[in-house]
Formats: sequence, structure tokens, C-alpha cells
Amino acid sequence: MQKNENVFVMDHPLIQHKLTFLRDEATGTKNFRELVSEIATLMCYEATRDLPLMDVETATPMEKTTTKVIAGRKLAFVPILRAGLGMVDGMLNLVPSAKVGHIGLYRDHETLKPVEYYNKLPQDIEERDVIVLDPMLATGGSAIDAITIVKRSHPKSIKFLCIIAAPEGIKALTEVHPDVHVYCAAVDRELNQNGYIMPGLGDAGDRIFGTI
Ligand code: PRP
Ligand code: URA
Repeated sequence: MQKNENVFVMDHPLIQHKLTFLRDEATGTKNFRELVSEIATLMCYEATRDLPLMDVETATPMEKTTTKVIAGRKLAFVPILRAGLGMVDGMLNLVPSAKVGHIGLYRDHETLKPVEYYNKLPQDIEERDVIVLDPMLATGGSAIDAITIVKRSHPKSIKFLCIIAAPEGIKALTEVHPDVHVYCAAVDRELNQNGYIMPGLGDAGDRIFGTI
């Protein structure tokens, strides 16, 4: 994993291999959905690398010994609707006890500014480390607003996990939320005049839900 300031790029071969098929315009809805979920599982593995461990006593069939478990850290996953939903099952594969909140935002096609339409977070979010999920970080507006909304509920920490990031989005997000670690599988070249990531993968929500 490559790290630059608060941005981690997951260059694991399995993630990069799956990302190629995710980008391919010939990949249909079913495979696209499966790939998003598989990539989310692999990214979850990397993004939880810093969870603290504590010692416990365990009796194996042979003897008692001291082993490790995760030290009481509780997680919450917060997908940004719609496309972030595609990442939730993949994350829950590795952390089935995590709670899931939802933030509904869509980008106004004219202004590219996010518009909020839904917000439901776990009640005990103050006790939790939050990972906000969205496959695409383009201008950064949606991620910035979602994280601002989550911060109002005072979670212990916030990470942002996306699959493809634009340099413009990384710059905007890290300027507004310098305390948030950003994890992605790729940093692409640029945004086009319509705010789409180039080369990107197109509209993630449309490709996950087949609404193209
Ligand atoms: C997409 C994507 C992000 C957002 C990224 O959602 O899933 O949420 O755009 O763009 P930004 O960084 O410029 O804010 P979209 O607004 O298309 O909504 P959808 O998921 O409902 O399709
Ligand atoms: N949202 C997407 O789904 N794709 C992009 O390229 C930019 C924003």
C-alpha cells in the first residue's frame, strides 16, 4: 500500500486486477456489482490494518496460551447512496458486527453540488470508528458533505474508502477534512468538463443498479 500524507493507494495485485474489469465498458451489471463487492472486501482488509489488538487467554486442545483479539473497537460503515451501497456487503463479509448508517446525496447535474435527501446513522455512533463508503471521489463534494454530516454525531474517527479518486477530489477532501484518512485503489488523471473521472469507469451508481 502506498501512502502520501493521509492518502493510501491500495496497489495490491488482486485489487488492481479486479479494477481493470470494473473499468471495462463490456462488464455488465451482474459482474460489475460482484467486482465492487469483492474490491470492497479486499480494501476493508487493508483499511482495518491499524485496528488495535489486545491479549486474551485461550485454551487450545494442547495448553493455555496468550493470543490476540481486536481490542473492543466498534465499527460503523456509512455508504453514500446510491453507489456506496454496492460496497456494504463486501465490507460486512469481514466485519459482520459493524453497524450500517446511510447518507443519501446526489450530484446536481448542472452545479455538480451534492444535494442531501437521506440521513440515518447508528445511535451509538459516538462509540464507533466510521468508514464512509463511495466508489467514486470526483470533485469531492459528496464525500466532503457526507463526512461533515457524520462529524456532527461525533464518532471516534472517520476514514473514507473509495475505489477511484480524482486528484481534484483528493485535494478538496483533504483540505476540508485533514483528519480523515482516504483509501482508494487508484488515483486517475483528471475530471472532465462534466465532472466525470477520466479514465474512470463511468457512472458507478448507474452501472451497479443497471439504470444506464
Ligand atoms: C456519484 C458517486 C459519488 C459522487 C461523486 O454519485 O457515487 O457519490 O457522484 O462525485 P463528487 O465527488 O463530484 O461529489 P451520484 O451523484 O451520481 O449519485 P448516485 O450514486 O445516486 O448515482
Ligand atoms: N460519479 C461517478 O459515478 N462517476 C464519475 O466519474 C464521477 C462521479
